[in-house]
Amino acid sequence: QQIRQFNHDLLDWFHTRGRRLPWRETTNPYYIWISEVMLQQTQVNTVIPYYNQFISRFPTPDALAEAPEQEVLKCWEGLGYYSRARNLQHGVREVVEKYDGRLPKQKDELLSITGIGPYTAAALLSIAYNEPEPAIDGNLMRVLSRVFLIDDDIAKQKTRKKFEKLASDLIIETEPAAFNQALMDIGATICRPKNTDCSECPIQRYCLAYDEGAQLEYPVKSGK
Ligand code: ADE
Repeated sequence: QQIRQFNHDLLDWFHTRGRRLPWRETTNPYYIWISEVMLQQTQVNTVIPYYNQFISRFPTPDALAEAPEQEVLKCWEGLGYYSRARNLQHGVREVVEKYDGRLPKQKDELLSITGIGPYTAAALLSIAYNEPEPAIDGNLMRVLSRVFLIDDDIAKQKTRKKFEKLASDLIIETEPAAFNQALMDIGATICRPKNTDCSECPIQRYCLAYDEGAQLEYPVKSGK
């Protein structure tokens, strides 16, 4: 059946050609949280050394919770968007106080933590706990809008919901951590905004935009 084959092709590619990144060597939700916060506004290659340094300086939620804020900000220097670091530390302090230093596994509990929104909660649930939650960011919306010819305006909040629903139907048949990160990799390295590299794409044969030569017309985004 189509969904099975799609996931098979996607995961097969991910396991052989997906990027090997330091936060993929772990299932520790605290480390994955750090990586996701850093990756929110910063490119993978820039994040790598910061991530490595950060987890060696603050190896546990306790260590980060106890550190002076200035020291945390010092480790963030160069990454920018410093509110991310402050929120992360606030969130970690909540985890230490409320959950004994262990990230909860319930979505509503994750969402109650400072700095964790719907995207980060979904990324944590899927990547750390292998729960079937699609982690829909701009990259995934670009890839999925092309594969399924979805022309809803991605600047609109409700469009995200539509992608979540669509991806939810796909992710239940597969390995959630690999599914999300495979689509992230395709978005970053193949299904780029302008220079697409469709000949390298493991899901090209499912891609409706490729069929029509319409890749660059997707995703649709209004000026708001
Ligand atoms: N961007 C956001 N999360 C990511 C991840 N886990 N791997 C690569 N890029 C990402």
